[in-house]
Amino acid sequence: MTQTYDVIVIGAGPGGYVCAIRAAQLGLKVACVEKRVTLGGTCLNVGCIPSKALLQSSEDFDHAAHGLSDHGVIVENVRLDLARMQARKAEVVGANVKGVEFLFRKNKVTWLKGTGRIVAAGQVDVDGTIHTTKHIVIATGSESTPLPGVTVDEKRIVTSTGALELDAVPKHLVVIGAGVIGLELGSVWRRLGAEVTVIEFLPRIVPTLDTEVATAFQRILAKQGLKFRLGAKVTAAVPTETGIALTVEPAKGGAAETLEADVVLLAIGRRPFIEGLGLEAAGVALDERHRIRTDAHFATNVPGIYAIGDAIAGPMLAHKAEDEGVALAERLAGQAGHVNYDVIPSVVYTWPEVAAVGQTEEELKAAGIAYKVGKFPFLANGRARAMGSTDGFVKLLSDKITDRLLGAHILGPDAGTLIAELALAMEFGASAEDVARTCHAHPSLNEAVKEAALAVDGRALHI
Ligand code: FAD
Ligand code: NAI
Repeated sequence: MTQTYDVIVIGAGPGGYVCAIRAAQLGLKVACVEKRVTLGGTCLNVGCIPSKALLQSSEDFDHAAHGLSDHGVIVENVRLDLARMQARKAEVVGANVKGVEFLFRKNKVTWLKGTGRIVAAGQVDVDGTIHTTKHIVIATGSESTPLPGVTVDEKRIVTSTGALELDAVPKHLVVIGAGVIGLELGSVWRRLGAEVTVIEFLPRIVPTLDTEVATAFQRILAKQGLKFRLGAKVTAAVPTETGIALTVEPAKGGAAETLEADVVLLAIGRRPFIEGLGLEAAGVALDERHRIRTDAHFATNVPGIYAIGDAIAGPMLAHKAEDEGVALAERLAGQAGHVNYDVIPSVVYTWPEVAAVGQTEEELKAAGIAYKVGKFPFLANGRARAMGSTDGFVKLLSDKITDRLLGAHILGPDAGTLIAELALAMEFGASAEDVARTCHAHPSLNEAVKEAALAVDGRALHI
């Protein structure tokens, strides 16, 4: 029997499930279609959560094996139980996805199990049953971008999904793409003992980062044993008896060479997942990069059909998808939901972490905006010294005339937590002076943020 809803959300990732919950909180009758056997989407099942579980475990392993003797803590015979590490990761994922199921029950969101296809505005087919609704929200997320010549089998040539499931530490892991996935998962397997080579098309790593930060970050990763081949591309990956033979060429052309790996991780970006959704038949327009085209309020060109998250333009981040889900649900309930795209933090969860919000120095230069820079190294921060984590620095960019914060970049311990202070400051339109005059607890890593804010005006105290 079909039922009429106010909202049917297709996809239960952080965009879709949060949109469904918020819409239900606001009194709308909501269903969410999900074809996976568990809720939570890429993020909870095969993305953010399992990767952070393995990053934490591998960091603990590395610390126990190499980092504790400096503290006078002697641990002998550190051994890896990879099966237990993977089982723990599965437990973490299990608890999270069950949590979303609980939230659906609590908020009376109906989970329509199966694959959703839009028949027309107001009608969604779920495995042969048509459900009617006032509004349709597409939140179908993204998938790994394929590379011609590199055929993924998720065993020896893997995307992030296979890289999270390896049951043995590879001898040589070759990562294609020095982006967020490549560096996070490359770090995991490096710490667990793999030789890791990262091949990147561009002459630098993580193209979205401030260049000065990216350069320092690469140096630290290289010290940890990651090898980089920048300005290079893989044109073929052929399985052999012993592993994979990769053909690597200079990005700008030149002689090819062969590289042997036993596992290859393909991580050259992600693309919207819109297969089988019926967009063409429903008349929903895409943009030039095959993302669903929306206006500033998440509406597609077809009245009654909306889209959010990785399937539309903008950074492919879970918190961006969530905030869009909330804003859209509020709009559908007659409120004024809004997302401030100028203040979306991003974090690379390596050690040290890298976090950023707002504009990079290169973006400010390109936009012709006059700016001031304040920097402070963790080497001069007492808490970082006590922790034994002095790599990295805080870099703040503020408007030359008004002093308003325009960008914040942190390479260092717990950068992903530290950046929240600056995101909040920027959301409130704070100046570097405002941050500098805010009392920061001592001894804390956040004092490096305060000192960088002081440094914008040339008056850092501890350097
Ligand atoms: P998704 O999470 O992809 O969810 C879409 C859901 O829709 C899926 O469950 C899918 O099964 C379902 N679906 C698709 N089509 C249909 C259909 N026709 N019918 C029914 N269901 C359908 N972001 C961060 O912010 N922080 C991180 O630390 C982070 N780590 C990541 C690590 C990895 C390895 C990966 C791959 C990604 C990571 N991301 C991270 C990115 C983050 O996972 C995505 O930005 C986020 O999941 C996007 O949310 P979404 O709701 O748009 O889509
Ligand atoms: P990415 O866009 O971060 O990086 C891809 C890298 O591959 C880039 O450096 C690019 O120049 C390079 N590249 C592209 N084509 C190439 C080729 N043919 N050969 C060699 N290099 C090539 O994409 P990634 O790492 O796959 O991650 C996808 C998305 O998932 C990210 O954009 C991010 O939004 C999200 N993510 C977020 C995380 C976080 O927030 N901590 C963690 C993991 C993923």
